[in-house]
Amino acid sequence: KQKSIKAVATELHGLTSIPPGYNFQTISNIVDDEALSVSEANESIPTIDFSLLTSSNPEERSKVIQDLAKACQDWGFFMVTNHGVPESMMKAMIEACAAFFELPEEEKQEFEGKHVLDPIRCGTSFNVSVDKVLFWRDFLKIFLHPHFHAPTKPSRFSEIALEFSKRVQQVAKEILRGISESLGLELDYIDKAMNLENGLQLMAANLYPPCPQPELAMGLPPHSDYGLVILLIQNGIGGLQVKHKGKWINVNPIPNSIIANIGDQIEVLSNGKYKSVLHRAVVNNKDTRISIAMSHGPALDAVVSPASELLDSVSNPPAYMPMKFKEYIEDQQSRSLDGKSALERIR
Ligand code: SIN
Ligand code: FE2
Repeated sequence: KQKSIKAVATELHGLTSIPPGYNFQTISNIVDDEALSVSEANESIPTIDFSLLTSSNPEERSKVIQDLAKACQDWGFFMVTNHGVPESMMKAMIEACAAFFELPEEEKQEFEGKHVLDPIRCGTSFNVSVDKVLFWRDFLKIFLHPHFHAPTKPSRFSEIALEFSKRVQQVAKEILRGISESLGLELDYIDKAMNLENGLQLMAANLYPPCPQPELAMGLPPHSDYGLVILLIQNGIGGLQVKHKGKWINVNPIPNSIIANIGDQIEVLSNGKYKSVLHRAVVNNKDTRISIAMSHGPALDAVVSPASELLDSVSNPPAYMPMKFKEYIEDQQSRSLDGKSALERIR
């Protein structure tokens, strides 16, 4: 069994080098990717003003839909401002996750699920069974919808997660209406086609303790996310990098904004017009970072395929094979990503 990074970092306290298993430079395929430089330019992911998505002013609405289309096409990532989720609620959720990671190791063991579809699962690294290197990260993953689950400890976790998940789901649904419209589809197209009433909402909370050699370790390897839209908050500490035009761009969000990205199933649904973009998490040697990704996906039994309304047998034939969402998740988990998107396989 793999020790949590929390325990590893605590034992290392005062030491200046990391255990060799975490050194990704020994793994060639990740080094290749590493050769891609981090952008020096002060580039930033675009911003979407959420309040305009619900505006009754048609000009404001059409402008934000255009911005959304551009953000999805050019970046696959954007910051959402004026989303209406109270700052206090986001803070409470981050603190509840911090408190979970602080639990004694024996108490966390109770929540070590085995299968990717177990509703509560905590652990370390990325995909221990297939990865050749360990990642500087602990995680807690919980299914919140269509059935709500939560660990019984810490005591207020469940209450906070229920409230937070409902608010965030509303934001995700509104963004998905905007995405439907931006693709020229009916407003509720994604809602209906993906059966969002039974859609999978998943929380993935990440803990990245300070690392004595941050240049040799990685928090999360380059990957794209399954799901439709993923909404992420963090404790004010950076670490997320997004691949854009062959370079890694640091994401430095506006305080209290939510970082959104397009998942693999939107890439499929849009027949590749919108891209599910590679991203990764780097670590630092000063501050503990916590991030919480809220993934919003189709219903587990929904079959995801390019929207027929967008296809044309001559100019735009289907570029992806249809696949049940549940099978996609299981398949992705069973393979090593080698820095490539799991999407490559259904293309
Ligand atoms: C993720 O990719 O799921 C999380 C990345 C981060 O910690 O910012
Ligand atoms: Fe991700």
